[in-house]
Amino acid sequence: MSQGSIPASIPLRNDLVGEEPYGAPQLDVPVRLNVNENPYAPTQEVIDSIVEHVRHAAPELNRYPDREHLTLRAKLAEYLAKESKARLQPEQLWAANGSNEIMLQLFQAFGGPGRTALGFAPTYSMYPEYARDTFTTWTTIPRNDDFSLDLPAALKAIEDIRPAIVLITSPNNPTGTPLNPEQAHALLDKCATVGVEGADESAHPVVVVDEAYIEFRNPGVDSMAPLISQYDHLAVSRTLSKAFAYAGARVGYLAASTAIVDSLRIVRMPYHLSALTQAAALAALEHADTQLAQVEHLRNTRNETAEWLKQQTYRGVPLQVAESQSNFLLFGGSFDDRQAIFDGLLKRGILIRVVGPEGWLRVCMGTDEEMTAFRSGLLETLREVESRK
Ligand SMILES: Cc1ncc(COP(=O)(O)O)c(C=O)c1O
Repeated sequence: MSQGSIPASIPLRNDLVGEEPYGAPQLDVPVRLNVNENPYAPTQEVIDSIVEHVRHAAPELNRYPDREHLTLRAKLAEYLAKESKARLQPEQLWAANGSNEIMLQLFQAFGGPGRTALGFAPTYSMYPEYARDTFTTWTTIPRNDDFSLDLPAALKAIEDIRPAIVLITSPNNPTGTPLNPEQAHALLDKCATVGVEGADESAHPVVVVDEAYIEFRNPGVDSMAPLISQYDHLAVSRTLSKAFAYAGARVGYLAASTAIVDSLRIVRMPYHLSALTQAAALAALEHADTQLAQVEHLRNTRNETAEWLKQQTYRGVPLQVAESQSNFLLFGGSFDDRQAIFDGLLKRGILIRVVGPEGWLRVCMGTDEEMTAFRSGLLETLREVESRK
């Protein structure tokens, strides 16, 4: 029997037969707005600091790295205190190779056969993969039409399903929708009263808030990190990939109670975070202000692009734009052939993403030049596709 590109003689796990590796296309085109990266490269000052930290780490590379990475965890606690007013001890922080690895560790620790993780669709497309890889059942509840959380449905699902993990993305990918503190309290309070299918009867679901894009929020929108001191079942996942412009360094982190962090310490690979990654992460945090310098500009770019998109039309109907607190926008809503619009932009050297519900496309904020190219490319493409039918 064939297993896609893998011959049947290779004993791939039965449930993985026919699966494809996940990943957005990495195409070498002039304007890449498809994977929610920060378009601004690290400054020379930061590059020099990375080199300095790596130079310091290099003579010790014959030794395994600090498994507990406590220096880094202390710096992450300091950053969260400043950024989100969350008062946390270094032991309440945990870092890994991107928040992808953080999330996988959460599923390894709390998921597993007979257990369910509950999410809110549409949402980040990697979650079902973490579930598959850890034999966890992945279940989603649809969001409202404006992509906000359907709180009554969420509370009912928690009671009915008794999930091990309740996973909420804030701001959500691909819609940009934030979670608000009232919703978070309602979910956390509900979880404190329900059990977990397949666990000890005293267990309660872990609420994971994936805040990969939180630094792009407007003033007045909250991070859930300060709630950790009130709720020991809350885990907030973050990353340096987006606002810190550090996607290539692969550094994600988690803030939670020590009980949750200690659970991840059980499943992590020994020495999972290399000495070079730790060095690079320390350099970035030392220059947090420089690294985050473009966040405000990207936030303005998002707000301006959203307004501009709303003024454009497709087949005589104004484009819809989902309310976003992130560095990307989900737009369209009524595209009858979104692939044709994606292809038209790609032909013009602009790569965006076909993701989210039918009729919508997602664009990530680029530099000013890239956004100018996007605007003119989109206008040309919309007129071209309209003229076809
Ligand atoms: C919602 C969300 N969470 C997590 C990640 C993973 O980010 P990283 O592994 O680079 O930290 C992404 C990446 O796009 C994302 O969109």
